Amino acid sequence: DKGNYRHFMAKEIHEQPEVVGRTVAHYTDLSAGRVALPFELPFDPAKLDRITIVACGTAYIAGLTAKYWFERIARVAVDIDVASEFRYREPPMSRDGVTIVISQSGETADTLASLRYAKAQGQKIVGVVNVGSSTMARESDVQALTLAGPEIGVASTKAFTCQLAVLACLALAFARARGELTVEAEARYVAEFLALPGLMAEALKHERDIEAVAHDLARARDVLYLGRGTAFPLALEGALKLKELSYIHAEGYAAGELKHGPIALVDEDLPVIVIAPPDGVFEKTVSNMQEVAARGGRIVLIGGAGGAEAASLKLHASIVMPAMAPTFAAIVYALPVQLLAYHTAVFMGKDADQPRNLAKSVTVE
Ligand code: F6R
Repeated sequence: DKGNYRHFMAKEIHEQPEVVGRTVAHYTDLSAGRVALPFELPFDPAKLDRITIVACGTAYIAGLTAKYWFERIARVAVDIDVASEFRYREPPMSRDGVTIVISQSGETADTLASLRYAKAQGQKIVGVVNVGSSTMARESDVQALTLAGPEIGVASTKAFTCQLAVLACLALAFARARGELTVEAEARYVAEFLALPGLMAEALKHERDIEAVAHDLARARDVLYLGRGTAFPLALEGALKLKELSYIHAEGYAAGELKHGPIALVDEDLPVIVIAPPDGVFEKTVSNMQEVAARGGRIVLIGGAGGAEAASLKLHASIVMPAMAPTFAAIVYALPVQLLAYHTAVFMGKDADQPRNLAKSVTVE
């Protein structure tokens, strides 16, 4: 049932404050200000020197975002790969390591094969999955369920932000076990989780501004997405979503890679979506925006309230996100990124729920 929405995708985008709130509540003791995983870990995170993450598509992008959290907060190194490469590369793995697989459906053929490979190497498997009855849920040592509810739209939206929420909680739990997290820091992060649903609802209020940008994107031939830190995976996600829904060619790049190639694409016709929350690398992203502006590129900034002034550039448009602590901002900034792709597709008359050539669950490789 789509309720009052035109598409399941729109409904699922708008459900995110609720389902992320529910997922976070399941993994934390909000009143105590602590992470409280709903399962025992069959390994000691303090003994790990690295973890491996494997997934496909948007689930892979959730894993790439989590790499920043595991490395920065828990101080554990992360190897991450797309499942189709991982499974055939057959990398050496330690017998006492941990592999996290991420999958909405829990049935994706390459991810499942990767799970089985890692298990055969002696790894403990943490499955971040949305379908509790799925093969991956069954074959994982730890079922880390996302509580997104059934996702009908082919493009993953609410499963993605719930994956991010679960992975953030895992990163904090690992950090605590490794002695990397003070009680105060943990309480501060948990308070940030508590604020997420409200911030996400706030972000959704900017839908009109996003539609105006989408109207413009619908005429583009190519679109470039840029971001740094956890906004880099979001740039990949923005480009993936735009491609799959609107069939416009789009690329996501780490902003710092701009001058190593993609800047050659920039001209007056190229929309450049810059995802730049006010964080420790904002100034660096500003200098990349200046490089784009100097070549006449049409910059759309998704940033904080002061972002446009701080960049002191002529922007084509800006989508303003509420003020928030930077660490988990990607969970909120994902929403305008999804809406932009959705509305562009709708303006172009494409079926946002059933993009051509795509299947919801890729059970064959
Ligand atoms: C993109 C999308 C796909 C899936 C990918 C993995 O919007 O939906 O990229 O993320 O096919 O699927 P799961 O998560 O079911 O393993």
